[in-house]
Amino acid sequence: MERLDDVDNLPTLPHIFTLLMGMIESDGSSAADLARIISSDQSLTARVLKFANSPLFRGRDRIENVAKAVVRLGFDEVKAIALTAMVYDGLFRQSPGAYFNRAQFWKHSALVAHATSELVTQFSMHAFTPVAFVAGLLHDIGIVVLDRFFPDRFSSLIRRIDGRRELLEQAEEAGEYPPHASIGAYLLHRWLLPQTVWQAVCGHHSCRDGRLSCTPLAGVILLADLVVRRCKIPFYVSEPMPDSMKHAKIVLAALQKTQAGSRGFSMEEFARSFAACVPVHLEKLRELVG
Ligand SMILES: [Fe+2]
Ligand SMILES: [Fe+2]
Repeated sequence: MERLDDVDNLPTLPHIFTLLMGMIESDGSSAADLARIISSDQSLTARVLKFANSPLFRGRDRIENVAKAVVRLGFDEVKAIALTAMVYDGLFRQSPGAYFNRAQFWKHSALVAHATSELVTQFSMHAFTPVAFVAGLLHDIGIVVLDRFFPDRFSSLIRRIDGRRELLEQAEEAGEYPPHASIGAYLLHRWLLPQTVWQAVCGHHSCRDGRLSCTPLAGVILLADLVVRRCKIPFYVSEPMPDSMKHAKIVLAALQKTQAGSRGFSMEEFARSFAACVPVHLEKLRELVG
């Protein structure tokens, strides 16, 4: 991590993202607060209006201001659009993405965001509701940092995954590569994202063996990740398909000890219903970021 301290041009996110996160964290934020923050940024306003008037949502009348877009699309949908657009513009538009498949990475991240959000609701983990989407969206962000700032180390990691057919986090551990989860958490900490978010990102692989030493949200992100992998969305590096049911069972058993809402959960059933929504999520993503 000391080497990251020396990188003085780590990616940054626009000020509007910080404002949105502040609003999301504070209890009692309203649709009017959300509309006010979005309206203060011209390009974000244009994105939200374009989305609200897209064939996916078009109502009878054309929407011409953000407040009406929030009414048409709903608070959560607009919040998700705004966060996704900010992260995409800030990190992906200019990133060369030399050693991983950027398009697949982006789909993976967005789908994990939706699945994390749905699981947190299903498990009644209300304390995490406001940050679940953004934590899922940014859970693998360390990959972008590795690719952009440490391309030699990262390309050697990718060669190892290719050659030995290892899972990404296994290759990191066995080859003593810096873990993408910790690097991502470091970046999010620097961005002043809430502790609940960077802690969960930091632990999203260390709970695979049932050690939920980190935070329950880390376990939920890993479950969401496994659900998305079960939907057969191609992964962004060439690691083999993990045994998602085996890993999910271990994480779920650990979660169920402390999160009453997760008891009685059926991974198969959730994965089936999530898979049915994947085409809609991907269509919305295409509409938003092209
Ligand atoms: Fe990961
Ligand atoms: Fe992931």
